[in-house]
Amino acid sequence: MHPILSAEHVTKVFAAGRGDPVVAVDDLSVDINEGEFVCLLGASGCGKSTMLNMFAGFTQPTNGTVCLRGTPITSIEPRCGMVFQSYALFPWKTVRGNVEFGLKVRRVSKDVRRERAQQFIDMVKLTGFEDHYPTELSGGMQQRVTLARLLANDPEVLLMDEPFAALDAMTRQVMQEELLRIHDANRKTTVFITHSIDEALILSNRIVVMSARPGRVKAILPNDLPSPRHVDVQLSPEYADLKRQIWQLVESEVRHHDETNN
Ligand SMILES: Nc1ncnc2c1ncn2[C@@H]1O[C@H](COP(=O)(O)OP(=O)(O)OP(=O)(O)O)[C@@H](O)[C@H]1O
Ligand SMILES: [Mg+2]
Repeated sequence: MHPILSAEHVTKVFAAGRGDPVVAVDDLSVDINEGEFVCLLGASGCGKSTMLNMFAGFTQPTNGTVCLRGTPITSIEPRCGMVFQSYALFPWKTVRGNVEFGLKVRRVSKDVRRERAQQFIDMVKLTGFEDHYPTELSGGMQQRVTLARLLANDPEVLLMDEPFAALDAMTRQVMQEELLRIHDANRKTTVFITHSIDEALILSNRIVVMSARPGRVKAILPNDLPSPRHVDVQLSPEYADLKRQIWQLVESEVRHHDETNN
């Protein structure tokens, strides 16, 4: 059986206007299985977003292949839905309008659209805010709208690029628990980018630690912390052990990167 998503020896080089080309991702291979929640963890600039953009088909590898169910992804892939770090909502549309947008584009009938949108608005606990505009919502609420919009589109794979990075610590924790709950319920394959070791440990089944730029796979670690997970899993000795192990992997990368850039 094919993994649902795979990167095979993927390299991405960006031509720079002046100066040397930038190798953002270098010979990266990873298989992602159906239903998994995989976190890509790595320092700023190590090529995480570039890798996710290739999974979404927004950009193509310079070398190597990115596949969905064994077929190369060569253009924007609607079966892979993306949530960006910034909320990216339509400010002139209400919560309902934003969540219904993808369904409308796909010409889903109005009744079905309404019902489906409501289901996901309820799921992300925004019931009662259907007619509010994004500017009338907090950051956390806006990010929940983007999550509802993504889920309403029902892609086969969820790609999430640091979706909670701009949130305060408490809201972030609530959103992480919400996402865990949703993943426990629908088991959608998810690739989630973060540079927080704690976030990766709380959310994932597997963690891909990337090296400093150019992004390579430094290590792939299974995360067998008990599930369903709650943030208080952070208090367990297993958590501390895994965190230490990952920090050692990441620390050498960050230090090495600092030295080579100074
Ligand atoms: N469109 C582009 N054109 C040129 N260079 C790019 C482009 N996109 C990314 N890069 C370069 O590729 C490298 C990796 O960038 P990328 O955005 O993938 O990093 P990242 O790991 O997502 O970082 P962060 O955690 O800060 O979001 C960087 O050096 C960046 O400057
Ligand atoms: Mg990024």
